[in-house]
Amino acid sequence: MAEKPHMNLAVIGHIDHGKSTLVGRLMFETGAVPAHMIEKYKQEAREKGKESFAFAWVMDSLKEERERGITIDIAHRRFDTDKFYFTVVDCPGHRDFVKNMITGASQADAAILVVAAPDGVMAQTKEHIFLSRTLGINQLIIAVNKMDAAKYSEERYKEVKEQVSQLLGMVGFKASEIPFIPTSAFEGDNIKTSPSANTPWYKGPSILDALNALKTPEKPDKLPLRIPVQDAYTISGIGTVPVGRVETGIMKKGDKVVFMPTGAGGEVKSIEMHHEEIPQAGPGDNIGWNVRGVGKADVRRGDVCGHSDNPPSVAEEFSAQIVVLQHPSAITVGYTPVFHCHTTQTACTLMSIDKKLDPKTGQAKEENPTFIKAGDAAIVTVRPTKPMCIEPVKSIPQLGRFAIRDMGMTIAAGMCMSVKQK
Ligand code: GTP
Ligand code: MG
Repeated sequence: MAEKPHMNLAVIGHIDHGKSTLVGRLMFETGAVPAHMIEKYKQEAREKGKESFAFAWVMDSLKEERERGITIDIAHRRFDTDKFYFTVVDCPGHRDFVKNMITGASQADAAILVVAAPDGVMAQTKEHIFLSRTLGINQLIIAVNKMDAAKYSEERYKEVKEQVSQLLGMVGFKASEIPFIPTSAFEGDNIKTSPSANTPWYKGPSILDALNALKTPEKPDKLPLRIPVQDAYTISGIGTVPVGRVETGIMKKGDKVVFMPTGAGGEVKSIEMHHEEIPQAGPGDNIGWNVRGVGKADVRRGDVCGHSDNPPSVAEEFSAQIVVLQHPSAITVGYTPVFHCHTTQTACTLMSIDKKLDPKTGQAKEENPTFIKAGDAAIVTVRPTKPMCIEPVKSIPQLGRFAIRDMGMTIAAGMCMSVKQK
């Protein structure tokens, strides 16, 4: 049987709104977790006096998470629907864990936003909607959850739908194209089929229907060729063999390519994947390749290979939108942390802080602030301390997102908006 298309799904939303429970329920309904396992979790939960957490426990496998009843790290699980196989990332809703949420969500093709009907929109609901947008998640499904705790009231569902729609509109999502599904992850309403007997007034899809209706992420094979180099080996009989994952575009044997920032280049002599020679490579392929005239001294980790007639851009400076996750004090002009972008790690200096943004909406709040701190979002200008390849997210998203690290922790995450070329 041919493998179904793969989707990375993030489940996001405010703390305690039922994200882990929804994922547990989805795993159960699709047969990824058998009924007897759920019974086992129920039993364990009962013994701890937390019976209601049985479904969440499918996801919250860490001991501390179970004991506190919250999700701390991001958990990866797989389940299958008729159309796709999903890797699901259950993101923590707790404020301290927004940084994990960023690493989790940045890999997602789609997200389910869980909003508990009794509470409606809360602080992290807003934050997660803005982050989803910043991190480039374009497909959303809204679960208006815990409907059982809101008497399955159509009126309450409509109120929450209205609140969430307003927020989505503010950051540029089209709420009219997004499914809003009244659910009880706990009781199982509108998860597998719809409408549930408890919501006869609801006319839309179930969660599984909405998941099946997602669009397959497009393979970025029409974008310019970009292969960030992970390492370079010398292999007897062949010569220098850089290895890396094709992020975008197609490379064929015989193509003229160049490695940036060094500028070394030539004709592609051979391409190899899983120890077999292949005529061409595309997005997602992990390859080794050999280029005529390119020696060991010409390529290193962090370089990017592209076609000679459309080479990777090397930034003298770039403009970026960042979200500060944590920093012990304030970030000011002159700060030089390490940027992790594709396979490169390059120290970059903050040249100016151009605008502070409202992290909840993405709207401009202040021009040229003197500093930014944890929780702030901003547009900044950055200068790499040595030549570095980076691309604006609007032209090549795969090469435009980065994390900023310092003192052994992730300080911020962001994306490149424009590049001033070297
Ligand atoms: P964090 O990971 O800590 O952000 O929480 P979460 O969003 O994963 O919530 P979780 O699934 O752990 O559920 C929190 C509590 O809400 C648990 O007691 C669940 O049993 C309960 N809960 C989840 N879904 C529902 C629901 O549909 N109805 C009701 N009544 N309770 C629910
Ligand atoms: Mg959770």
